[in-house]
Amino acid sequence: MLTSHLVPAAFLLGASLSTALPTSGSESAAGQCSPVSFKLSATAQNTIFASPPDPSNETQILNFITQGLSAGGVPTAGTQTVSGNFTIDAIYCKPSPGVVGRDAVQILVHGILYNKTMWSGLGFGDQYNWHAFANDRGYHTLAIDRLGHGTNPQIPDPLNVVQGWLHVEIIHKLIQAVRTNAANNALDRAFGKVIYTGHSYGSQIAPWLARNYPSDADALVLTGYSNSPNIATIASLQYRPAARVKPQRFAGYPLGYVTQSNATQHTLSFYTGAYDPAIPVADLRFPDTVTDGEASALSGQLLFNATGYAKPVFIATGVSDVFFCSPPLATCNAILAATGRDVFPTASSFGYFAPEQTGHDLSLHYSAPLSLCKIHEFLEGFF
Ligand SMILES: *[C@@H]1O[C@H](CO)[C@@H](O)[C@H](O)[C@H]1NC(C)=O
Ligand SMILES: *[C@@H]1O[C@H](CO)[C@@H](O)[C@H](O)[C@H]1NC(C)=O
Ligand SMILES: *[C@@H]1O[C@H](CO)[C@@H](O)[C@H](O)[C@H]1NC(C)=O
Ligand SMILES: *[C@@H]1O[C@H](CO)[C@@H](O)[C@H](O)[C@H]1NC(C)=O
Ligand SMILES: *[C@@H]1O[C@H](CO)[C@@H](O)[C@H](O)[C@H]1NC(C)=O
Repeated sequence: MLTSHLVPAAFLLGASLSTALPTSGSESAAGQCSPVSFKLSATAQNTIFASPPDPSNETQILNFITQGLSAGGVPTAGTQTVSGNFTIDAIYCKPSPGVVGRDAVQILVHGILYNKTMWSGLGFGDQYNWHAFANDRGYHTLAIDRLGHGTNPQIPDPLNVVQGWLHVEIIHKLIQAVRTNAANNALDRAFGKVIYTGHSYGSQIAPWLARNYPSDADALVLTGYSNSPNIATIASLQYRPAARVKPQRFAGYPLGYVTQSNATQHTLSFYTGAYDPAIPVADLRFPDTVTDGEASALSGQLLFNATGYAKPVFIATGVSDVFFCSPPLATCNAILAATGRDVFPTASSFGYFAPEQTGHDLSLHYSAPLSLCKIHEFLEGFF
């Protein structure tokens, strides 16, 4: 079923499940937020690269990334088993006591060069705060740091370990923990429904999760995403090893953890149309990273169709997203409709929204409240 425009539904709230969890901090005015941490054991079949760069040679690493982001990609030589016990830090927010909570948690998975803080609006107010919007409507939210990013204590091998395949296995284990209130579930409760919410790279790994583990997510919300990535613009970010751009923050990080150093290029890549010009400036002062192992898969390896996934899917991508869409509105709409049809052919329901005057960082543009509204109108039909 293809539904491009959805009728606003009344907010029918689920049963109250307000539990007395300790809270600290106040990431969101509407909800109550606290830092949490998960210990997860995971095993993945990661890619072996046929011609890996010398991990101590910046030139080779940057060339490898450039080649990975070209049409042919980098040559691979099969797979290898990677496993370990991983610590995943997150921000957990729940509806405030005055709001009737739902038995549903949105797991928020960030994109490249960002970490879990991107969902809170970077201090620019609640209009950009995903947690606040969702918590106000009864959803719990859990914004995670993917392995190797944010405040996660482990800094694994960027090329061989920090890859999309392992991210998906770790997130699969996280979802199991959240559903069962296993001993390592830092939330201290079980959730009946899990909504996987991604941005950019966090969305690109979702089809792999949905295909391998079709019952993990009760819905997918994918932002800053389509199945027609403009690889040349992803390659144009002017990457440099993070340890050389921000030596204090990234002391001890292998050179394969790269970041963006050029502020002009950063704004051009992530922001287009109508946005507060102070946000990209603040944003680039403390960038996160992408690893050579993550970047090298972007040109093709991650383009899977999630055949077999039979739950609802919603895509929200800016009309002027230079990585994943293309103006005018009708062109972007066609790209998003085709993505739903091709990548999620068995989804029970599909909707999409392309905000105008909006670039890649969907939730950090002036259209953020409108996008959040459209997304939650869609979810309202199912949760
Ligand atoms: C780094 O790799 C480049 C390209 O292969 C090579 O020309 C250069 O000599 C290497 N640098 C060092 C310090 O090994
Ligand atoms: C994770 O830790 C447990 C307990 O220490 C250990 O038994 C297990 O082998 C570890 N798993 C991996 C994949 O390293
Ligand atoms: C996470 O990202 C935010 C904003 O992009 C930044 O301020 C913060 O320093 C980052 N955290 C880490 C640990 O890199
Ligand atoms: C930064 O990026 C802009 C836009 O791509 C480019 O014009 C400029 O030359 C770059 N600056 C440096 C120092 O590389
Ligand atoms: C995904 O499905 C579309 C439509 O059937 C097809 O054209 C495309 O080749 C598929 N992609 C992959 C990676 O299988």
